[in-house]
Amino acid sequence: MSFGKMPIANGFLTEKEFQNEYFFELKTAVCPECHMFQLVDQPEDTQLFHDHYAYFASASSTMREHFRLLAERVMADELKGDNPFVVEVGSNDGIMLRNFMKAGVRHLGVEPSANVAQAAIDEGMNVKVSYFNKETAEEIIAEQGKADAILGGNVIGHIPYFHSVASGIKTLLKDDGVFIFENAYLGSVISRGSYDQIYDEHVFTFSCLSVQNAFARHGMELVDAEQLEVHGGSMRYTVTHKGARPVSGRLTKQIAWEKELGLDGHEVYQKFRENCERLGSDFLTLLQKLKSEGKRVAGYGAAAKSTTILNYSNVTSDLIEFIQDTTPTKQGKFSPGIHIPITDRSRFVESYPDYTVLFAWNLAEEIMTKEKDYSAQGGKWILLNPDVRIVEGI
Ligand code: TMP
Repeated sequence: MSFGKMPIANGFLTEKEFQNEYFFELKTAVCPECHMFQLVDQPEDTQLFHDHYAYFASASSTMREHFRLLAERVMADELKGDNPFVVEVGSNDGIMLRNFMKAGVRHLGVEPSANVAQAAIDEGMNVKVSYFNKETAEEIIAEQGKADAILGGNVIGHIPYFHSVASGIKTLLKDDGVFIFENAYLGSVISRGSYDQIYDEHVFTFSCLSVQNAFARHGMELVDAEQLEVHGGSMRYTVTHKGARPVSGRLTKQIAWEKELGLDGHEVYQKFRENCERLGSDFLTLLQKLKSEGKRVAGYGAAAKSTTILNYSNVTSDLIEFIQDTTPTKQGKFSPGIHIPITDRSRFVESYPDYTVLFAWNLAEEIMTKEKDYSAQGGKWILLNPDVRIVEGI
């Protein structure tokens, strides 16, 4: 399906850059054989991950805690031998890696966006500023040997050359090692209509079915899948060398559920498209209605996801006054494509809007708790899925 003309999701820009803004057609397709849900075209990866990448994962306390717990679990269950070695693909600003550093575990992050990588290096972590692929894996082996655990938080689905990554993992992983990665889950995207998970960086939106097929081509096996609440519904996949571990009961159940939902068929994707059209049109209609009533509307959390919502729904910059975001590199800029100003939190607090679109809906609890004064003073939140609706907050 086509989501139309899209700018770079994390391409927050200055007024001077409006003229030369880059657009591409955001279109998805599903492979009838391996059931991989993927983008048809993707901008060059240097357009996406560079020395001024806007996303610092550690901005959210929910995500910091989430990755701390994963690191603890890996240390307890997977790092049993002498001087174990952990590699993280896409280590961002060190949100997960810092836990290994603090515990004195031999670690290496591989991160292509130099500015976020530098934040981790400044904290003392070992980071290689590079894309992860087969060649990088060989360099790491030559320098440090094979890894006991390879990790990836919201990154493997971002990399278009999946097979080079998978063969790098196959090479880098010890015989009894594990590769654990998590990404937004196709089953959640389809069942809650969270189409805003689809944007340039998310080349693949994985399911257990597609991950199982993709790694099987590399002599590897999906042995476990754990459903997670983060990022609006994610899946944590555990992959090993083929036959190294038994397949878990919950993975078998999850695959049965995916087949029941129809992820290996056609119809479910047709219905998804209709659902996206409904949600996009409901959102625009609501914003237009609020404007006609003279209400002030702002946005909260200029997440990359908001770029898909705003551009797909044909929202215009007169309908949303500003979007507040705590990320300094986004503040003072404008949202991609639609050009809504991104401000710091003070703009929100100084003059509460009547309605606030919760673009970072996946962090609803954290944000609504932080902003309970807003709700107490009558401010209302607009939520975007599974239906566009207005809520009072918590
Ligand atoms: P994410 O959903 O992709 O993690 O992006 C969340 C965005 O929301 C990110 O740009 C940071 C921003 N944010 C705030 O502005 N305030 C907050 O309190 C939190 C938790 C996130």
